[in-house]
Amino acid sequence: MNVVLLPGDGVGPEVMAEARKALDALELGIAWTDVPWGSAWWAEHGTMMPADAIDVLRGHDAILMGAVGDPAVPDDEALWGLILKIRQELDLWVNVRPARLLEGIPGPLAGRAPHDVDMVFVRENSEGEYAGVGGRVHRGFGHDVAIESSVFTRRGCERVIRYAFGMASARKGVLVNATKSNASRFGFPFWDEIVAEVGAEFPGVVVDRMLVDALSARLIRDPGSVDVVVASNLFGDILTDIAAALQGGMGMAASANLSPGGGVPALFEPVHGSAPDIAGRGIANPVGAIWSAALMLEQLGAGEGSRRLMDALETVCRRGPRTRDVGGTATTAEVGDAVVAALAAQP
Ligand code: NAI
Ligand code: MG
Repeated sequence: MNVVLLPGDGVGPEVMAEARKALDALELGIAWTDVPWGSAWWAEHGTMMPADAIDVLRGHDAILMGAVGDPAVPDDEALWGLILKIRQELDLWVNVRPARLLEGIPGPLAGRAPHDVDMVFVRENSEGEYAGVGGRVHRGFGHDVAIESSVFTRRGCERVIRYAFGMASARKGVLVNATKSNASRFGFPFWDEIVAEVGAEFPGVVVDRMLVDALSARLIRDPGSVDVVVASNLFGDILTDIAAALQGGMGMAASANLSPGGGVPALFEPVHGSAPDIAGRGIANPVGAIWSAALMLEQLGAGEGSRRLMDALETVCRRGPRTRDVGGTATTAEVGDAVVAALAAQP
């Protein structure tokens, strides 16, 4: 397995070091290619990554990434120069985000146990509200105009919606469609039509159409009633931060950016950003990063390694040590070391 390690900025390198440690402890023969792209690269070269970056990535089986974003770099430049560019140019069209409250991790909702929070979000990852289509005029004249257009293509919607139906039929047979086809005139009515069309291929799956604002409230009030959710790029982005909070915080959440059948490497990353407020202190929670590594193994066909890693991670969450964002006092490295120890203790 040839894997690109892209630690990125802020806490990215801190949590990636632990993910790598855990993967190396599994002794699966992963060959790493380290790439120093991100804000430091920008400071030196004026771009977030080199011109041949996408070709470099294509030559590998998977990409494991930390996060990007730095107070010194304009945020849209950082994201469009790296993570959004990779998603678009490799056409990683589906972002899968499992949200499960692990035992031992304090959730924010009173009276909710781990089994109440167990969902998967299937987020459109290549277009929608983040298509990058639009423009600005009259800059600097005090009457500027900014236009940002959402793009919903039949191909883009169909493929992600079909993927979500497949996921729902493999789980509980219910798919929540996060939509806004009451206020949206064009995009979401079209999205809903495609949900209905693709749904005809999955007679065993019930569609639960929810306006995204009401769904946001439902995630808080009754998370146990939600299993698989399909959402557009923006809605999926926002809903999964709510879901991350339900899991105990941003540091807990993992994600996979995939192009099923596309013949390109998939990208795995924790949901959180570079967390400049805690970067450099060795206190970031590495669980989301290690969980992302487990998602990577599963996707690379190393199912046994993936199960072992998740089992070790769940053992550590249950028994500690835990970082302070989830009620503990441990450092990032102490949690990573405990995962390695839990792997070694497996029968
Ligand atoms: P953030 O996720 O970096 O931080 C939000 C809050 O969660 C902060 O209080 C932070 O301390 C906490 N947090 C995040 N990760 C944590 C971890 N592993 N352990 C413990 N606490 C953690 O989001 P924010 O502050 O909105 O963005 C910071 C930068 O990251 C920005 O430049 C943003 O554009 C970028 N970003 C990059 C992403 C990516 O690379 N995929 C995703 C989200 C944001
Ligand atoms: Mg986000």
